[in-house]
Amino acid sequence: MEIISLLNNETESSSHQDQFAIDVLMALSSSPKSLSSKYFYDDVGSDLFQKITQHEDYYPTKTEFSILDQIKDELPELLNEKVIDIIELGAGDGHKTSLLLNGFLDADCEVNYYPIDISEQAMQQLGENMEGHANLHIKGVVAEYCRGLRYVRDHSKNKALVLFLGSNIGNFDRVQSQGFLRRIWQSMEPEDYVLIGFDLKKPVDVLVRAYNDSAGYTRDFNLNILQRINNELGANFQLDKFQHYGIYNPVLGAMESYLLSLESQTVYIEKLRHSFEFDAFEPLHLEYSFKYLESDIHYLSERTGYEVMKNFTDENHRFMNSLWRVSKG
Ligand code: AVI
Repeated sequence: MEIISLLNNETESSSHQDQFAIDVLMALSSSPKSLSSKYFYDDVGSDLFQKITQHEDYYPTKTEFSILDQIKDELPELLNEKVIDIIELGAGDGHKTSLLLNGFLDADCEVNYYPIDISEQAMQQLGENMEGHANLHIKGVVAEYCRGLRYVRDHSKNKALVLFLGSNIGNFDRVQSQGFLRRIWQSMEPEDYVLIGFDLKKPVDVLVRAYNDSAGYTRDFNLNILQRINNELGANFQLDKFQHYGIYNPVLGAMESYLLSLESQTVYIEKLRHSFEFDAFEPLHLEYSFKYLESDIHYLSERTGYEVMKNFTDENHRFMNSLWRVSKG
């Protein structure tokens, strides 16, 4: 697999470090304390996330897989293209995407597949998992999503299908998700397509179990963010003094993840030359995972310049893959 990096490695990785330090400073100085979930995904975090997705309590990944398996032959019929650029935001491990790619290849469509991911390592991993095919051309783009998408669209005028799977949209709040989809829209041509994975609203016990899996992977995934601050910014967090707490907020319609400080404590961060106080049971907010109704999906598409072509769901209505057409003018 050919990989092109749009990152200017030295400068970008030191500026990523600086950004991480600034975000941690802001996160721990604010009230309530709150840190962006994008920092979950260092090597250990990515590994733990893989484990979460395979655990029986976490239904979204396997449910989306079953939907894509059902629709893999229908999608090429609906799109009816001889050549298509399939652009995936986030490299994933390739399992779900392979299903879709094979559907297009089986329908004799020529496929240019462009996974876009900020992590070079995730891209290489994906390359190892993808199988070759005479009509499949893969070019990985290491870049931030919108920049990578602009690069691909500047270099090809084929009809495009953008994939944003895995309910990653749910980690944006309602305003951020509109901004993100509008930025994608700007890089697309009329009649291009997007396929988005949305996790649906459902009974709270199913949600709570998914974000508090019995093996403790989600707990470790959340605590790992403290370990990452220890490793990269020279902090002295003691992980056993924090508790993972995952709850459903019915007002927001989102699962929320917190770490709770189990006692009053002080943490020092060398890189910031600063100490931070935690009260006993003070929360550090880490993640939102927004859940959707089908009507929310229609509202979102209308607000951001798309038209829903078709929604696909599973038999228990846990998850929905929604196919949108770009509309302009
Ligand atoms: C990546 N994202 C869609 C996952 C989710 O369900 O919000 C991340 C995750 N957090 C805890 N478990 C999984």
